[in-house]
Amino acid sequence: MSSFTRVAEIAELPDGTMKKVTVGEKEILIARSGSRYFAADDRCPHMNGDLSLGTLSGTVVTCPVHHSQFDLTDGRVVRWTDFTGFKLSAAKLLKSPKPLTTHEIKVEGNGIFVALKEG
Ligand code: FES
Repeated sequence: MSSFTRVAEIAELPDGTMKKVTVGEKEILIARSGSRYFAADDRCPHMNGDLSLGTLSGTVVTCPVHHSQFDLTDGRVVRWTDFTGFKLSAAKLLKSPKPLTTHEIKVEGNGIFVALKEG
């Protein structure tokens, strides 16, 4: 069963921002879009880019390295790198698109809490 860990205060995460926190040994990305909060692995499934250094647009995070995009609502791949043509085909062959692992997040009082997905 997953247990929630307090990772930040609501005031630390204004609307439209992201933040890297640590839960146990794991770097986790938390993000806020309006009144919705999201948690996911901070490291890009492509080549470990630090997603907290990327950009957030609505619920979509863009990796700062090769600009893959993931929807934080479920982790699905919106775009796999910003490569095109042959380079994109080669990139998909070398490393097939992989969704971002998302985690449970909740707000209680002034705190933000995350429970890691098990497995
Ligand atoms: S490391 Fe994130 S897109 Fe390549």
